[in-house]
Amino acid sequence: MNVDLVVVGSGFFGLTVAERAAKELGLKVAVLDRRHHIGGNAYSENEAQTGIEVHRYGAHLFHTSNERVWNYVNEFTQFTNYVHKVYTSHKGEVYPMPINLGTINQFFRSSMGPAEAKALIQEQAGELAGTDPQNLNDKGIQLIGRPLYEAFIKYYTGKQWQTDPKNLPAEIISRLPVRYTYDNRYFNDKYEGLPVDGYTAWIERMADHPNIQVHLKTDFFDDGHEFSRATTLGQVPVVYTGPVDRYFDYAEGDLSWRTIDLEEEVLPIEDFQGTSVMNYPDEDVPYTRIHEFRHFHPERDYTKDATVIMREFSRFAEKGDEPYYPINTAEDRDKLLAYRDLAKGEKDVLFGGRLGTYKYLDMHMAIGSALSMYDNKIKPHFTGGAKFE
Ligand code: FAD
Ligand code: NA
Repeated sequence: MNVDLVVVGSGFFGLTVAERAAKELGLKVAVLDRRHHIGGNAYSENEAQTGIEVHRYGAHLFHTSNERVWNYVNEFTQFTNYVHKVYTSHKGEVYPMPINLGTINQFFRSSMGPAEAKALIQEQAGELAGTDPQNLNDKGIQLIGRPLYEAFIKYYTGKQWQTDPKNLPAEIISRLPVRYTYDNRYFNDKYEGLPVDGYTAWIERMADHPNIQVHLKTDFFDDGHEFSRATTLGQVPVVYTGPVDRYFDYAEGDLSWRTIDLEEEVLPIEDFQGTSVMNYPDEDVPYTRIHEFRHFHPERDYTKDATVIMREFSRFAEKGDEPYYPINTAEDRDKLLAYRDLAKGEKDVLFGGRLGTYKYLDMHMAIGSALSMYDNKIKPHFTGGAKFE
């Protein structure tokens, strides 16, 4: 085989590993992806009719406080000064999110200052004081009081999980952030922005190296190509970023995931909702949120004749669905431990990324964790003969 390293999956984890190995170590790297495009879930494309950039697997906002990750990503793209904000449409009224002093004063038709608002929320949260909530519903009430919980969290979470929060474990939420200021900036990170010429341009520049060959529509588990599991194992080191349970043929059982369905619509108007993301926390609306993609890039000269929106629906993933968010039940955690043992014993294969570790990772976390794997495992293996495991 004419390569030094096989990387399964061309998401940010796989591409970061491939880029470092090719550029810094001069290795020949084959990157496989079963999809028809690189970039994993961060992939975006321009919607055909309008030219508006849409994120195919749901809205992706880049943010990080990690200096190394920030410096690294800036080698491939510049970022706009986009700052993410989210609003929520409850019973015919729009409120700012996350819950902040503006939300609270609008909701209670009041003009409280921070101390007063805090005292009110504490009093309302006191309804379940001294109890040890066993389900998400009680936990939510104990964290922020019943009125705000029922308006903004209860049905939204119920829709995300397709489950009444009374039947969800309390541990899904450890905290519900309430800000006693008018700050409704969504992320708290030091750096934030969107890639100036889009996610796909950024991703393509990461893969653009003479030592990197990308094989699309190529599944590691299909035989009949040069880099399949059957032909690579024992022949060349592999970094695997697909689902860990799939790798072991589900020997310890299936890990459970949530997925989302996105319904795209092109509307013949300039602006549908005036902002990029609107949440829908009410029970009678089937979707959780609507994304309007033109608002991610107000600096671009997009058409004024049309706009692209996507309604987002959330549900449990079945086999064949895209796995998006780990559900992480107690059974999942047991299975994961068993898979981790199996992974450790798998010679010359490293497991990484969101699917390979069964962990929700933001883009900056996937990149940071790939850089660590590169430093701690891959580079030592190829430069000093350390074991690759
Ligand atoms: P992925 O991006 O999932 O890439 C894995 C790749 O492996 C896929 O392309 C897949 O096709 C391929 N693969 C799997 N199995 C095989 C196989 N057998 N053979 C070949 N190829 C295979 N991050 C943020 O920072 N901000 C956000 O706002 C944000 N929003 C998100 C919204 C959603 C709905 C989701 C799911 C994720 C979001 N993320 C966000 C996270 C981000 O998309 C990535 O999940 C993260 O960068 C992790 O990348 P990864 O490389 O580990 O995995
Ligand atoms: Na291993």
